[in-house]
Amino acid sequence: MRIVVLVSGTGSNLQAVIDAVSSGTLDVDIAAVGADRPGTYGVQRASEAGVGTFVVDFKAYPDRSEWNAALTAAVSAYRPDYVVSSGFMRIVGQSFLDAFPNRYLNTHPALLPSFPGAHGVRDALAYGVKITGCTVMIADAGVDTGPILAQAAVPVLPEDTEEALHERIKIEERRLLIETLRQLADGDA
Ligand code: GRF
Repeated sequence: MRIVVLVSGTGSNLQAVIDAVSSGTLDVDIAAVGADRPGTYGVQRASEAGVGTFVVDFKAYPDRSEWNAALTAAVSAYRPDYVVSSGFMRIVGQSFLDAFPNRYLNTHPALLPSFPGAHGVRDALAYGVKITGCTVMIADAGVDTGPILAQAAVPVLPEDTEEALHERIKIEERRLLIETLRQLADGDA
């Protein structure tokens, strides 16, 4: 199973996937890692692991639809079975989704449908929920609205900050993402 992973930031979830592949616990081929801006640590991690990288810089395109077309072409060139958004902080357009129908996976640091959007951890903390968690789903045209494949719960502690809670959620998020990829690779999802 070939995957392309898209990142915008530090790529610690990507690193967990890279580590699982190199230790032999996950049998997938990471065909490439792509980013929406130059200079991400996620792309650096991929380069250090010998994985091919590409950048489709959002700011280098006159509008969202041209960026979306360029992203679709860049990802398609690697002929992935699945595309994984791993902290990729851009909404992709319909033509991208059409190129990878039911094959664009996303992870989210909250128990959807609660707390969608870019601040799922902050919003859960502000609301005062006692349990939050993470979700792996198939991305669709909405914001964190696609079919849910897997979820894990994480308790909120009284002294939690957004950063501390997010780090504990990401431990579960990595486990869940790797497990989901394993199931997809085995045809068990
Ligand atoms: C993850 O919690 C992801 O769900 C969210 O951003 C985080 C990415 O972290 N959208 P990293 O870049 O993998 O460290």
